[in-house]
Amino acid sequence: MAITRPKGTNDLLPPGSPKLSPLISAGAHAWLTEKARHVLERAGAQRIETPIFEEAELVKRGVGDSTDIVRKEMFTVYYFGDHGGFILRPEGTAAIVRAYLQNGLKQLPAPLKLWTSGPIFRAENVQKGRYRQFHQVDYEVLGSSDPLVDAEAIALMVDVVRELGLKEVRVKLGSIGDPADREAYNVYLRGLFTSHADRLSDDSKDRLTRNPMRILDSKSEGDQQLLAELAVKPMLDFLGDEARAHFEAVQGYLQAWGVPYTLDPSIVRGLDYYRRTAWELHHEGVGAKSALGGGGRYDGLAEILGGPPTPGIGWAFGVERLLLALDAEGVTLPQGEGPLLYVVALDEENVPHAARLAFAARAVARAEFAYRAMKPGGAFKDAERRGVRWIALLGSQEVENGTLSLKNLHSGEQRVIGVSELAAFLEASSLTPPLHRSPHETHRHDRPPLPHPRRANRDPAGLGEPPPRSGRPDLPGTA
Ligand code: HAM
Repeated sequence: MAITRPKGTNDLLPPGSPKLSPLISAGAHAWLTEKARHVLERAGAQRIETPIFEEAELVKRGVGDSTDIVRKEMFTVYYFGDHGGFILRPEGTAAIVRAYLQNGLKQLPAPLKLWTSGPIFRAENVQKGRYRQFHQVDYEVLGSSDPLVDAEAIALMVDVVRELGLKEVRVKLGSIGDPADREAYNVYLRGLFTSHADRLSDDSKDRLTRNPMRILDSKSEGDQQLLAELAVKPMLDFLGDEARAHFEAVQGYLQAWGVPYTLDPSIVRGLDYYRRTAWELHHEGVGAKSALGGGGRYDGLAEILGGPPTPGIGWAFGVERLLLALDAEGVTLPQGEGPLLYVVALDEENVPHAARLAFAARAVARAEFAYRAMKPGGAFKDAERRGVRWIALLGSQEVENGTLSLKNLHSGEQRVIGVSELAAFLEASSLTPPLHRSPHETHRHDRPPLPHPRRANRDPAGLGEPPPRSGRPDLPGTA
């Protein structure tokens, strides 16, 4: 029997693959990550990469023993002579804080803004938008507890979705207070749920002893029903003075900048390290319960991991969820460009010449050649399938004269040039966008202004206009 990929994982495929969708397009993933990089690096974030697997203790302590991630969703990796197993990373934050502490990044100017992207692993129940290997784009800021940093982090998240062309996104903002506020809230929740414990799911009975707040993000329908019946007070009602002042300051900045958000008093987030500001971005197209991304402040995490007190805040997007949302909004995603030049020999003896021309052209552009001679009709068909822009047919005449007959398969234009002119010609041509211009290219250059509160009616989410549909966008790294 043929071996298939593990449940909850995806192969990311090249352009033109049968059944290609944005979710599994390697080009769409690269395009999205590049867009996020563009926004984040302009804001001063620097790339960091941590290992795909970490000590189990890092995840248990960092993410929290009472979370679903630690209790049910960790992939453990063993090897011969193992010391007890590593964990495939179920998120990026704990590892970035570990790397910050371990590598003395505290010595860099604060606040230090970092970003990363890559695969994340959680053994969840698989459904649309919920996978066992998925990808995140992650942004973290270490070394400042200023609410201005919180507001900037949220604004950057909105900038990323706007850069992608997404429109129908809601920012749901809350606060989960300081540890003492959370403790008070847990006392309240324990009091409330204890007399109804028999109606709680088994998981939530366990949560009731360990960390009652986790009952609020239970995925069990019965638990959610009970929550609604009991009209549970939100965490926001339990904020202490300092956390409340911090939260109000964050909102003040967001309002001043016109960054749209709605207050969501019920936000608790699924990880234990959060305190104070917490938020999620939601989109109708991926379902009410599935966030596009989320984040929050985690000032106590460095100490939990054995380091000195270090304030921190950050967020992560789920790349697959963003791609589903883009698809739901009908934004056409890049499939990838074909080669700029395709050299086809008309006779077998000229195939090596065609290859040598393509090798030389690679100094300036993506250039390919046909591995066998073809007749012109077959060559054009083959080139079209490959998404070629310029085809060069090479016969003995051209080899003798040192010329090339070129045809642009997008515009129909024909040119005869000397072989010595090829590099300059391709260089000039690679600067011209393909005939079908990318909607995303247009978007990048004509960036919409920050949403203004007065525009709220036309654009309820205030995220700016999406780019027009259709097109053949450029991919990062393709000439
Ligand atoms: P999170 O909310 O657990 O936060 O995950 C962030 C995003 O990853 C989610 O909003 C969702 O889009 C995506 N995601 C989560 N689980 C899955 C899944 N099974 N399949 C597909 N996508 C998924 C964190 O991971 C925090 N580390 C974020 C953060 C950074 N907080 C502070 N800094």
